[in-house]
Amino acid sequence: MKHQADKIIDYSAKELLIAQHPLFFWQKKFQLPIHLYYAPTIRSNLRAFKKVFKQYYPKGRVCFAAKACTHQSILKIVKAEGCGSDVASYNETRCALEAGLSPKMLDLNGNCKEDFLIEEAIKKGMNIIADSLEEFALIARLADQLAKKTNVLLRISGYQLENVTADSVFTAGLWTKFGVHLDDVPQLIKSLDRYPQINFLGFHTHIGSQVAQLKPYQAVLGKMIEMGHLLKATGRECQVINIGGGFPIRYVEKETWDYIVKRIKQGYLRAQKGDMSRVFVWHDGLAGFVGESDALIHLDRWTGERFYTKYPKEQMLAALLRGNIIVNKKTVKAVAALKALGEPLLTIEPGRSVVEDAGVTLAKVGIVRKVARDHNLITLEMGITCHGESLIERPVKKWEILNNYQKKDKAAFEAFVGGNLCFSGDMISKYKVFLQRKPVRGEVVLIHDTGAYSSSLFAANSNSFPRPARVLVDERGRITAIKKRDAYKQIFV
Ligand SMILES: Cc1ncc(COP(=O)(O)O)c(C=O)c1O
Repeated sequence: MKHQADKIIDYSAKELLIAQHPLFFWQKKFQLPIHLYYAPTIRSNLRAFKKVFKQYYPKGRVCFAAKACTHQSILKIVKAEGCGSDVASYNETRCALEAGLSPKMLDLNGNCKEDFLIEEAIKKGMNIIADSLEEFALIARLADQLAKKTNVLLRISGYQLENVTADSVFTAGLWTKFGVHLDDVPQLIKSLDRYPQINFLGFHTHIGSQVAQLKPYQAVLGKMIEMGHLLKATGRECQVINIGGGFPIRYVEKETWDYIVKRIKQGYLRAQKGDMSRVFVWHDGLAGFVGESDALIHLDRWTGERFYTKYPKEQMLAALLRGNIIVNKKTVKAVAALKALGEPLLTIEPGRSVVEDAGVTLAKVGIVRKVARDHNLITLEMGITCHGESLIERPVKKWEILNNYQKKDKAAFEAFVGGNLCFSGDMISKYKVFLQRKPVRGEVVLIHDTGAYSSSLFAANSNSFPRPARVLVDERGRITAIKKRDAYKQIFV
């Protein structure tokens, strides 16, 4: 098996290497759990997006969503690859600027920006994404006060899109705190002359995260181009269309995802008849099929996050640019439609798709036991706060035991995974995970694809446990600390 240099795990070496080092190195040098990130993967993901733009629509810009994994060392890679960044707080902004990114390459997002942050963005000449009509008026007022022409885009929501992703990360529908409703945009466009300091660049929509299907992107791009034509009709140019992030990861291959869905259905239907032995979702849930009657349990009706996609990462952008969209009821080629609008800069804000598969988490197995009579449960020496995604959705991930990783039983060992915190919701995997064999106490498991959000989103000192170390490893195996493991003093002061 040949190792691809941009992959974090090297299975081809005599001994398994994780970010260029064997397990004993990580265990000896750092304590577990630990989050590892691999620079070559981040680089290659950014390049892949840029390549798609070069091929289909050279007037494109990749702005890494810093919130997915924020650190100067990561943002320096972003700068070196000629990309910009989406920032959504003062510290993200500062970190990006200190990494050397030009303010012109920074898009300021967020639904509740502080005055001082908006003022800073105006003074520095960043692009500000106005998240509401109220915020648009505020930005205009602050720009007037500072007598500074300010680049502004308008974030849009209120789209009629169904079953796009998990509700908690869907940000473009009706019930969202983000964006201005599509119906309110024409009125704002008509009023732009009232805001002399606003240099209105165009429109922004971030659909949500892990948007696994192409249709929502096509729908949103079509609508934003329609808004662009309304803008043009007032004598202005539409200079920027920003379609946000959300580009999905293929967490599992299609066969595995289909198998998981089959198991969810089977487990649920059997449980309805009193047989709990096949339950696959913690607490006998229906997961994304919630609310459906038995006969209607079908993948098309899945309401949650999807963990398989036909178009992972940059392939979604390529499919969008290659395909058709609907503009003012006419079906047109996406690129032709952009050109007809005057070739605006097409900006994307990928986060997860840049860093998720560049990261893994290593944790020690504590107890392996049975729960609910006959179901396997592994508990880790790590809480859900080290895997924050599990607080938002039920992630499906690939897992493996690192010790003697080639030692396999014929059938996979299936188990739920819990953490070490003192509340029942501390479940790291509410779907059963598949391992090579039954692990034993002290062995180390690796969770794949944990580079985005998971490690930092809800990192906390629950039960006074330290927040774990997070490190970035470069192509030569050199290590940069993104976050040191908390010492006793850092927990309490
Ligand atoms: C405005 C905006 N853009 C981009 C992103 C990145 O999304 P993803 O990591 O799914 O690509 C987010 C994530 O929350 C966001 O809020």
